Amino acid sequence: MTASADPTPFASIDALSAALQGVGYYADRRLATAVFLALKLQRPLLLEGEPGVGKTELAKALSLALPRALLRLQCYDGLEQREALYEWNYAAQLLHMRAVEGRNSLEEVEREVYEARYLIRRPLLQALQAPQPGAVLLIDEVDRADEPFEAFLLEYLGEYQVSIPEIGTVRAQFTPVTILTSNRTRELNDAVKRRCLYHWLDYPDRERELAIVQAQVPGASAALARQVAQFVGRLRSQPFANAFQRAPGIAESVEWAKALVALDTLVVDPEVVTDTAGILFKQREDVAALTRDFAAELLKPEEAEEA
Ligand SMILES: Nc1ncnc2c1ncn2[C@@H]1O[C@H](COP(=O)(O)OP(=O)(O)OP(=O)(O)O)[C@@H](O)[C@H]1O
Ligand SMILES: [Mg+2]
Repeated sequence: MTASADPTPFASIDALSAALQGVGYYADRRLATAVFLALKLQRPLLLEGEPGVGKTELAKALSLALPRALLRLQCYDGLEQREALYEWNYAAQLLHMRAVEGRNSLEEVEREVYEARYLIRRPLLQALQAPQPGAVLLIDEVDRADEPFEAFLLEYLGEYQVSIPEIGTVRAQFTPVTILTSNRTRELNDAVKRRCLYHWLDYPDRERELAIVQAQVPGASAALARQVAQFVGRLRSQPFANAFQRAPGIAESVEWAKALVALDTLVVDPEVVTDTAGILFKQREDVAALTRDFAAELLKPEEAEEA
């Protein structure tokens, strides 16, 4: 395994949770345990979950809490190795060849143009070569990349190294903390999963969502924040037959709370819900399904819910 003086500066799972909270990220015990183990065992962590549940944010928060530089690789269909790992700076290589034309032998020129200074390092290579204490590498939305790209990742994920034909094998100097995220638009390759620790990131419970809303929207009163957390929680837990196509994520709760504050809302009522439904939902059918009557039903206070 590669060198790493201190794989985790956190003495315990609680210490890690507290450090994440210190930078504004609220993790539940299971998530904190997964992150703690990923750090201790120096394994990549694959986070899957619905949109807006804090997958990307976790990598950002972790880089602040450790602290380590964040390197980010956004995946998409057609992503190629040269955007992920490295490419040669052809223009500079060409200039060099012109400059030494007739003076140097072919072997010399070949050696010179493949020197490190003509290498453009992309996030994966940057992560492997990051100075102490190493970087956090976020491989975001890996399900959007294609299968050949996943296969290409295996060497990195399993051994923290990559092979570059002109240079040889590049090994990590300091094991990068590696977070992969997926929205599960397709099933990932088993070989990728086997090399990672896995965590399914669920919607937060009401208490955690309340804490997030209060932290991110300090202008919201405690009562308003509670109403937001409760209402959004109920929207998500509709029985299958009534379920919305795309339930709101944490980002939507936070946005909605900000909107309610901007509208000087003291108490959420069905009218303000339908007026602002476009913040909670981004699907026309979902907006239409949130009628005033339905909103009134969902806004009933706790006692009524339990009765
Ligand atoms: N646990 C959390 N603590 C604090 N804020 C959070 C948390 N989870 C999510 N958020 C907030 O929700 C926003 C959306 O989270 P994020 O972008 O990480 O979601 P995601 O799971 O990556 O979504 P997508 O799949 O759409 O990329 C963040 O910008 C952050 O403000
Ligand atoms: Mg994301």
